[in-house]
Amino acid sequence: MAANYIESKIIDPTVAPELAVAGKVAARHAKRGVTPKYFIQTFGCQQNEADSERLAGLCEAMGYTRTSSPDDALLILVNTCAIREHAEKKALSIIGQYKHIKDANPDVVIGVGGCMVTQEARSTKLKMSYPYVSFTFDTGAIHKVPSLVLNALEKKSRQFVLSDNWTIAESLPIARESKHMAWLSIMYGCNNFCSYCIVPYVRGRERSRRADDIIEEAKQLIADGARDITLLGQNVNSYNGGDGCDIAELLHRIAALDGDFRLRFMTSHPKDASDRLIEAMATEEKIVKHFHLPVQSGSNEILKQMNRKYTAEAYLEKIAKLRAAVPDVSITSDIIVGFPGETEEDFEGTLRMLEAARYDMIFSFIYSPRNGTPAAKMENQVPHDVSTARFERLLATQNKISDERNRRFLGRKLRVLAEDVSKNDETMLTGRGDPVRPVHFAGGRELIGQFVDVEVTGVSTFCLEAKII
Ligand code: 5AD
Ligand code: SF4
Repeated sequence: MAANYIESKIIDPTVAPELAVAGKVAARHAKRGVTPKYFIQTFGCQQNEADSERLAGLCEAMGYTRTSSPDDALLILVNTCAIREHAEKKALSIIGQYKHIKDANPDVVIGVGGCMVTQEARSTKLKMSYPYVSFTFDTGAIHKVPSLVLNALEKKSRQFVLSDNWTIAESLPIARESKHMAWLSIMYGCNNFCSYCIVPYVRGRERSRRADDIIEEAKQLIADGARDITLLGQNVNSYNGGDGCDIAELLHRIAALDGDFRLRFMTSHPKDASDRLIEAMATEEKIVKHFHLPVQSGSNEILKQMNRKYTAEAYLEKIAKLRAAVPDVSITSDIIVGFPGETEEDFEGTLRMLEAARYDMIFSFIYSPRNGTPAAKMENQVPHDVSTARFERLLATQNKISDERNRRFLGRKLRVLAEDVSKNDETMLTGRGDPVRPVHFAGGRELIGQFVDVEVTGVSTFCLEAKII
């Protein structure tokens, strides 16, 4: 088991003083008789969404109430992503748009956090070129936001926090987006250093939360009405909660809790996805039969250059094991096209992988060089037009497979968690029943948050249609 459980790094005591600072900010607002609002803009993955829920919890502890419009906010926080250049550009462009808000009201406080600003060059850029940004905070410094806000309100100097103190801040308040569907972070960071990926540099080394803390949080979530809980981590397969508690054990312990809920987990690294984990999925009814197992490429040479530590053959063996244990499992994957040195033949290996693995869905990306990663320095960077053409072929191949996979649901009865009113039609609800695709069905909003039995009446590439039985 990986040695990533470092008790001394769990820093509940550090959080208490920060919560006291949050109280001070709240008292300051109360004294002035204002009810200020906060707005959080989130980019990137589920981990960032989970972090934003912690930021929201802190904002509320500081006496702010949520608004969905940055123009109404006195505190604007941007939680950035750095995984691809596009994500950084989008964040910088949004931050640029907030300048007019600060110009119109100098009392507005703008802070920027997350993966992008955890890179020193980006934090410095914000400091130099975005003078209306009051502070930045790295991914390990979320709990310091109350101090940063207080500092900004008192109009002291701007602060650009960059710590490499990779800790776990337990006991932060969380203001969740949804009552019914919850992210539950179980570990942070990544030790894998895939050669294209910035994550290990911006989220630090792997560190796992204590199993007991996670179980307590899960109990609370279930008591508060959560029906769909996703355990989150960059590589949940190397979870190590102490006393021999690995991811499989953790899943068994949570699945054993009373209550009507479903359990998911992501993301898994193929080299670490264990038989014990597969067995947990096969035996625990509450675990959703969905495995997100990113392959990235189907070419052994590219996998080697990516530092993925498995071959296409070993990967497919794992898939075979998974399908044997969980026959109806939905498998999804991440794929990168245009990694440096990727030849036409390498790419065809990836297309063959799609056919062999028969994914239900993939998340596909054109390779984006990230400063500071080994791949960015590799020769043979693939021209963008070549990558784009490959990307289109990849999507066409996968869409056909997704269509074929979806057809197995036609006529099937599913138990769906009604999530929300459909965006395009007020009379329709959207929910999750199939592990990966949204299910649309006619129903009233009083059903939201409940499990509903439906029958699938139609399928398309990205969703299922159904009727309540
Ligand atoms: N370029 C393109 N895609 C990337 N990913 C990670 N780093 C990069 C990069 N530099 C993709 C991987 C990963 C997913 C979250 O993002 O496929 O699994
Ligand atoms: Fe990035 Fe690889 Fe870690 Fe995933 S496993 S976060 S791709 S370094």
